[in-house]
Amino acid sequence: MIQFAEQIRRRGETIGLVPTMGALHEGHLSLIRAARRQTDTVVVSIFVNPLQFGVREDFARYPRNLSRDLALAKREGADVVFAPSREEMYPRGACAIVEVEGLSDQLEGALRPGHFRGVATVVAKLFNIVQPTIAYFGQKDYQQAVIIKRMVEDLHWPVRIDVLPTVRESDGLAMSSRNVYLSTVERRQAVALSQALKAAHEAIRGGERRAQALRRRMQAVMRQQALIRVQQIGIVDAATLTPVAQLKGRAAILVAAFVGTTRLIDNLLVDVT
Ligand code: PAF
Repeated sequence: MIQFAEQIRRRGETIGLVPTMGALHEGHLSLIRAARRQTDTVVVSIFVNPLQFGVREDFARYPRNLSRDLALAKREGADVVFAPSREEMYPRGACAIVEVEGLSDQLEGALRPGHFRGVATVVAKLFNIVQPTIAYFGQKDYQQAVIIKRMVEDLHWPVRIDVLPTVRESDGLAMSSRNVYLSTVERRQAVALSQALKAAHEAIRGGERRAQALRRRMQAVMRQQALIRVQQIGIVDAATLTPVAQLKGRAAILVAAFVGTTRLIDNLLVDVT
């Protein structure tokens, strides 16, 4: 992969990287399509990164289906699928790690200690291997995108980070590889996460600016579903991820909840004057 990337870069051509953990869905495919439109060579990486999973998380059962993923990536015009083994990515463990301090410890990072250090480390490795001109991420993992942007800025990486809108099912549920874990009844109830964000959005449009009031409104929506256990509602400055009491400027509203035993996340970005 390194040699291939070097050849492309020597020819003065661009590389678009779509980093994934596989189990590709329409969200990933929208990133591949953007890379196809904007860059000469499109690389999709598929690697279920053990470093970003906690001990009690779903690393072992994370959905894996390489042949299906290869067919989808090919259909969308990817030139290369880079699917390394764990031994190739971490031949001697992970001694050197990348930590984006501050941004990684809050919100999702507080609930999943070590998660973003795992993400930043593997993305740094992928950037070194694939040498992308542009790397594409989904807004669904908003905090991840903010952290990667900051890593790239702080480490002067010559790569552009493009963050594309969350792709949703027709009822509003954010697409996620983890949606396959949901039973029929959980799937029906899971839509409450996006409905809660929608309710917050409507309240903001109606003039509500108090984070606590928005949080209460969202909780009320999700409480209607017996199988949902809200883990966190973060209302933060979109750039710094610092909690805000009163919305002003660009803010992010992030929700994490268990639907049955499946943990899902979603978010909304708002510009408030
Ligand atoms: O968003 C993901 O799928 C993963 O966190 C990523 C960026 C591929 C790193 O493993």
